[in-house]
Amino acid sequence: MYRAPRGTADILPVEQPYWRFVEQKAAAICQLYGYERIDTPTFEDTQLFARGIGDATDIVRKEMYSFSGGELTLRPEGTAPVCRAYIQHGMHSWPQPVKLYYIASLFRHERPQAGRYRQHHQFGYEAIGSADAALDGEVIDVAWQFYQSLGLRDLSLQLNSIGCRKCRPEYLAALRAYYEPVTGLCRDCVTRRTTNPLRLLDCKNESCQQVADAAPKSTDQLCPECATHFGKLKGHLAVLGIPFEVNHRLVRGLDYYTRTVFEFQPAEGGAQSAIGGGGRYDDLIEVLGGRPTPGIGFATGIERIVLNLKKQGIPVPALSHPPVFIAGIGDAARDEAVKLAARLRRSGIGVIEAVGGRSLKAQLRQANSLGARYTVIIGEEELAGDNAVLRDMSGARQETVPLGQLPQKLQKMVS
Ligand code: HAM
Repeated sequence: MYRAPRGTADILPVEQPYWRFVEQKAAAICQLYGYERIDTPTFEDTQLFARGIGDATDIVRKEMYSFSGGELTLRPEGTAPVCRAYIQHGMHSWPQPVKLYYIASLFRHERPQAGRYRQHHQFGYEAIGSADAALDGEVIDVAWQFYQSLGLRDLSLQLNSIGCRKCRPEYLAALRAYYEPVTGLCRDCVTRRTTNPLRLLDCKNESCQQVADAAPKSTDQLCPECATHFGKLKGHLAVLGIPFEVNHRLVRGLDYYTRTVFEFQPAEGGAQSAIGGGGRYDDLIEVLGGRPTPGIGFATGIERIVLNLKKQGIPVPALSHPPVFIAGIGDAARDEAVKLAARLRRSGIGVIEAVGGRSLKAQLRQANSLGARYTVIIGEEELAGDNAVLRDMSGARQETVPLGQLPQKLQKMVS
């Protein structure tokens, strides 16, 4: 028996109300803040991710699905593709900042566990073309308002600034010096010490975490410009009334970040359970071959949102089903049922037609289980009089109605 590949999932009809709810809220919030939708291809040149996300990251080293001789890769994230599109379409000549959002599937060859998949979906957005700390505030506010609009409670906003290319080298040197004499680090951290010292700070291993807690803080080593920027952002968040916690160990798993990094964490769940994360990437467009252009963005995993909606018992609106079911008895009735269904659908009424020539009782049972509000029954007797029986499924009341009047009558009843 075939099964969906490990780390992937079917989103069955019963799950769809959650997904539609999240997507609708995402589109609504983007409209409120002036973000327009962009859809980029599912795969890109491998080099876009290798250069954009960083050769030393877990994503690029171990998690990319590459094919065509390694030239192409299923997108593991959405920021580098949007920046590629920004450069390719000359968006620097559009009014700045350019604000774009996406809802897309992403692919990472990770070890599957609760909330961690090999194919997942994100709602993400990017604001490209301004370094203003007010934009950082807005990007965080969008996420905050989005989660509020979903009804999610108890999310904590973790915030940090990891400096820029001017002040980061000095900080990394301090970090290396601090870690150099440390023994007993996990194997990954021993490697990180040379390849990616920032990532030492967010190791999930408990003994490494104790070491990281006492490590030098990036916010103590920011250059004056980065310190001012971080101070302004904290001021904006205060004005917006968004509570946050400065987390010195928050560095994020992608190398393109500069200055602001942030994540939203649900109340329960370890360090791996961020529901969303983002940050500023002021060098990324240049690294990808564009003219120097600052940017900032955020993305949140839809699977993790759905998980938290369920955990918190948040109800989501049901999706609508066709309100009318047509049951037919006999061949002549079936032809009439087909014609009637077409007429009803043309006038905008959703209809499910019985198929399979089952008994009337079986057809009514099906109408019930499909949640139909009305069933139209066409039998030979009704057909002879050009009528149909209209049955109200809630009270099981029924009446005989001329076939010609049904569309008008039903339209009034279902509206
Ligand atoms: P990220 O933190 O790698 O950031 O992913 C964003 C969110 O996607 C995570 O917080 C999580 O909710 C979800 N996610 C990531 N990996 C998985 C997975 N394997 N299974 C389920 N959910 C997952 C980025 O991707 C950046 N592009 C965000 C960004 C936008 N930064 C700036 N702009």
